[in-house]
Amino acid sequence: MANPTFAAIDVGTTKVCTVVAEVTSAGDLRILGVGVGPSAGLTKGMVDNIHAAIEAIASSVERAERASGTRILSAHVGIAGPHVSSMNSRGIVAIADPRHPITESDVHRALESARIVNVPNNREVIHVVPRYYVVDGQDHVVDPMGMFGSRLDVETHVVTAGSSAMHNLMQCVEGAGVRVDSIILEPLASAEAVVDEEELNQGAVICDIGGGTTDIAVFVQGAVVHTAVLPVGGAHMTRDLVVALRVPQPAAELAKRRYGHAIPSLVDEDEEVEVDAFGSEGRKSVSRRLIAEVLQARTEELFEMVQAEIRRGVDQDVLSAGIVLTGGAASLPGIEMLAEDVLGLPARVGRPRHLQGLSDLLNDPAYATSVGLLRWSLKEREIMLRSSPGVPTASFGGLLRKVANLMRVVLPQ
Ligand SMILES: Nc1ncnc2c1ncn2[C@@H]1O[C@H](COP(=O)(O)OP(=O)(O)OP(=O)(O)O)[C@@H](O)[C@H]1O
Ligand SMILES: [Mg+2]
Repeated sequence: MANPTFAAIDVGTTKVCTVVAEVTSAGDLRILGVGVGPSAGLTKGMVDNIHAAIEAIASSVERAERASGTRILSAHVGIAGPHVSSMNSRGIVAIADPRHPITESDVHRALESARIVNVPNNREVIHVVPRYYVVDGQDHVVDPMGMFGSRLDVETHVVTAGSSAMHNLMQCVEGAGVRVDSIILEPLASAEAVVDEEELNQGAVICDIGGGTTDIAVFVQGAVVHTAVLPVGGAHMTRDLVVALRVPQPAAELAKRRYGHAIPSLVDEDEEVEVDAFGSEGRKSVSRRLIAEVLQARTEELFEMVQAEIRRGVDQDVLSAGIVLTGGAASLPGIEMLAEDVLGLPARVGRPRHLQGLSDLLNDPAYATSVGLLRWSLKEREIMLRSSPGVPTASFGGLLRKVANLMRVVLPQ
């Protein structure tokens, strides 16, 4: 039988990226095709022009279909934006017969009880991620199944999204002819692609700096404890350059990518570069040090916001593995040094790893979310197959759509 294939779509504010992959017999991801195109109809991670967004998604899907020689019927889709919020919630259940070991159904009931949080009716729960379990007061149990006890508690991280923002996004994907298998919070996806288990256990922050948003996920002892989406990203850095250099947006974007640096002192003070200018000037010469100063100011401010957000979630001392930067803006030279400086944490740039097939194309921090969406859904598939071994692989997509979040809540990570 052919290996199962599946797809993910990262609908960003700058780009839409569709990736098709297959799962090899060893359980690895082999990339079959990638389709990247400019985004449209999105501001700060949210759809504000459905028709433009549908067109951008359809074109990215078509490219991925052509590259992979497959037809994409359904996909896992990332979500971000200031409408997303999260909280930690505890679920508690009594075990009917403490002489019998705890079963999957007990775990399920505990997770369902954690899910019953006060969610206003204009919001929807998108994830209930188990952090750890407590069996009769014994703390930090990773997998309670098979243990004995009369009371089971579960600590979870519950992520909710604004209903209308989520349905607008789904409408756009479906308008492009693709069914939505599941909706996944982008920073959780990015973490899957670039952070290893040891880092998650030692405490790490994943910070995805995209075009319009910066997504944050904080992990302690292997589990997510805090997530947030800030409405600031690389587009703000470009806008600052437009104002400071008085050049058109495309020239500022090019200057940022070609000559940008986050640490001005590492740039030669006298170096001048040529950029396109407004009006009759045509081209003009600007100081490379000035470009770096402008970028440093905005990036520093962004990291201060990230720090405030981290502090809302945890004490920074528990983050021994530090911060991993992803997203297109993580390609700015010197950004990890600036992050270390502002946050006082070890920092590195994260690129998707352990991929087979067309992996060169995706070896860039901007693709952490797309690859992470695939990884997250692969993990869900494994969880589902473990608990329902008889499920035929062909029905994976449809079934997953119905039970993805359910299965996600059935077993610990
Ligand atoms: N070499 C570079 N130096 C600095 N910034 C860069 C570089 N390359 C790309 N960027 C910036 O990265 C941003 C796009 O990042 P990315 O592709 O991750 O965004 P996105 O996923 O579409 O957006 P979002 O996640 O905010 O919805 C743009 O602002 C772009 O200018
Ligand atoms: Mg993104």
